Amino acid sequence: MTLRHFLADDDLSPTDQAEVLALAAELKAAPFSRRPLDGPHSAALIFDKPTLRSQSSFAAGIAELGGHPMLVDGRLAGIGVRESVADVARILGRQAAVIIWRTFAQADLVAMAEHAGVPVVNALTDDYHPCQILADLQTVAEHRGALAGQVFTYLGDGANNMAQSYLLGGATAGLHVRIAAPPGFHPDPAVVERAAAIAAGTGGSVTVADDLGLAEGADVLATDTWVSMGQENDGLDREAPFRPYQVDEALLGRAAADAIVLHCLPAYRGKEITAEVLDGPRAVVWDEAENRRHAQKAVIAWLLERSRDGA
Ligand code: NVA
Repeated sequence: MTLRHFLADDDLSPTDQAEVLALAAELKAAPFSRRPLDGPHSAALIFDKPTLRSQSSFAAGIAELGGHPMLVDGRLAGIGVRESVADVARILGRQAAVIIWRTFAQADLVAMAEHAGVPVVNALTDDYHPCQILADLQTVAEHRGALAGQVFTYLGDGANNMAQSYLLGGATAGLHVRIAAPPGFHPDPAVVERAAAIAAGTGGSVTVADDLGLAEGADVLATDTWVSMGQENDGLDREAPFRPYQVDEALLGRAAADAIVLHCLPAYRGKEITAEVLDGPRAVVWDEAENRRHAQKAVIAWLLERSRDGA
């Protein structure tokens, strides 16, 4: 059996991602049409950081797939403290058909996947948020009618999980991904390199700069909090350098006339985005939040099927 995991966006090839997104659309139209967790099998859900959209969308989605969402309290379990990640993985892999984990270090998630014996899904780490990007791609496809060739500009903290996942997942989908971020908050160059290599094969492209001109003519504008979970006391000025990158009406005016606006939420109105834009007609953030459920159901069903087939 070949186990498939979803630890970072580029664990899915362009073909894989297209299959998952097609399944997400199918599941949105017919939510109970796939029941890979019927039994019910359990799906372990662990959150080491705050959550609203992830916990609710995974729990609802797992139930719709016929399964049981098994909430595991990371603090009670003491993952990496009371017992090693490897031992926790061995235990949960004997209880659950899939493990979904939100944590800090990507390396811990990788260790979980190495020892679980069942598919492991990244529900956000410091480095990536790939389930959110699948939902965002589904939302872009719904509102723009296509993915490949769309100009997708993200503004704000270019070093965070969302920016890095947009680079990898967006390049996989053939988007022209532009990251506009202040100096000192650019993505890891190794991630940019990986994304550029993917884009070379999909017809997409990758641009990282501190230049607000990257918003010019964009089909999609996206932003995210300037202070990600776990960075609250990192000693960096997370206000002044980001101010020019706020998504406001003026910035939106530089994008395409029919551009849409994404935000993974929670949003801080008056910081990375104005209330006018977030609550205005171009923002599609509630569709984006709903699509978490459909996209995650699709990736879970796809991973289980591939892992069973040994494909
Ligand atoms: N970059 C944000 C995403 C929240 C969904 C964070 O990590 O807090």
